[in-house]
Amino acid sequence: MTRYTGIIEHFRNRLPLAPDAKAISLGEGATPLIKLDKLVRAEGLEAELYVKFEGLNPTGSFKDRGMTMAVTQAVYEGSRAIICASTGNTSAAAAAYAARAGIVAFVLIPEGKIALGKLAQAIVHGAVVIQIRGNFDDGMRLVKEVAKTAPVTIVNSINPYRLQGQKTAAFEIVEALGRAPDFHCIPVGNAGNITAHWIGYSECAGIGTEACLHCQGDCAFLGVASTRKRPRMVGYQAAGSAPFLRGGPVANPETIATAIRIGDPQSWAPAWIVREESDGWFDELEDQEILATQRLLAEKEGVFCEPASAASLSGALRDLHSGKIPAGSTVVCTLTGNGLKDPDIILKDGLRGLVQVDAEQGVVERALLERLA
Ligand code: F0G
Repeated sequence: MTRYTGIIEHFRNRLPLAPDAKAISLGEGATPLIKLDKLVRAEGLEAELYVKFEGLNPTGSFKDRGMTMAVTQAVYEGSRAIICASTGNTSAAAAAYAARAGIVAFVLIPEGKIALGKLAQAIVHGAVVIQIRGNFDDGMRLVKEVAKTAPVTIVNSINPYRLQGQKTAAFEIVEALGRAPDFHCIPVGNAGNITAHWIGYSECAGIGTEACLHCQGDCAFLGVASTRKRPRMVGYQAAGSAPFLRGGPVANPETIATAIRIGDPQSWAPAWIVREESDGWFDELEDQEILATQRLLAEKEGVFCEPASAASLSGALRDLHSGKIPAGSTVVCTLTGNGLKDPDIILKDGLRGLVQVDAEQGVVERALLERLA
C-alpha cells in the first residue's frame, strides 16, 4: 500500500498546478462517507443517506482541501505571506498550512464571534491574528483592500485555487458511491464550497459549468471518477444570515452557527449558477433546528460536527420528511467541520448526563445499575 499524501498528489492530473509546484500538504482529503441507516430508521424515513465528514481533515474542516492548493500555488509564485478574513475555519487552515510552508499568515477575525478551538488553532500555529471590531463581511472588505498594496496572497475562496482543491470532495463521493448522489446538501456561507462541489461533479460527468472561475464552462474532463448524472445541489443557510433566501446582502447577520455568519457571500453569482444548472434550491434553518440536529447526529450515530455543519443534515431531514427530497433518494450531506472546535455550544446547555458521586465502588455500581434498569 502506498502512503496517502493528500489531495494534490492523489488528484494531481485534475488540478491546475505547474508540474514542478511542490505540494504543501498535511494529508488532507480521503474523508469518510458515513451511512446513516440507524438515524434514517429512527426518523421513519426511506433514503440512502450519507454524511461526508470533512471534520476529519487535518485542521478539522473542509478548508484544508482548498488551503493545500492555495498555499502550494502561493509558495510556487514566490509569495512569503498569506492573508484571509475568517469566521474561524479558514484562519485555522491558513495558519497551519502557512506554518507547514514556512510563510506568514495574517488572519482577520470578527471579535468574539469565532469558536474557541478555531482561535486556539490560529494562535498555536503562529498566525498573526487581527481581531476586528466588525463581522466577517467587514473583514473580507478589508482583506481585499489591503492586498491591493501589501505583498500578501489572499487565501479566501475568491482565490480560485481554493475551489479547485475543494472540488476533490465531489470526486471522492463519486468514487465511493460509484455514481453521483441524487441530492447533495451543504451549508452555505460564502457559497464557495457549494460552487466547488458543483465544479467537481461537473468534471466527473464530463460537463462544463459556468460556475467554474478557472474554465468558465470550457472544461469537460471525464476522468478520476466518472458519473453520467450530477446531483441536485441544495444549500442551507442559518435563518439569521440567509442572503440567498432574502435575495441580497444581509446587513447584520446573526446565528449561533458562527462559521456561516456571513451576510455578503463572495461566491454569490456562481452559487446562483449552481442552483440553476443543478435544478437545486436554497433554504434556511432556525438555530434551534441546527442545534437539535447536531445533538441527534452525535447521539444516534456517534458523529460530532460543528453547528454550521449540522445545517446540511438538518435541512436534508426536513426535506426528506416533507417529500421535497423524494423517498428512496440517495442523499449526501457535507459535514463541513468538527464539533470539537466548538465545545462551548454543547456545554452552555449544562453538563447533561453528568453523574456526580463519591469515589466508592458501591456508589458507582449503583449509579450504573440504575441506568441499565
Ligand atoms: N461550514 C463551516 C464549518 C465553515 O467554516 C464554512 C465557512 C461553511 C460551512 C460555509 O462554506 O463559505 O464555502 O459557503 N467558513 C469560512 C471561514 C467562511 O472563514 O472559515 P462556504
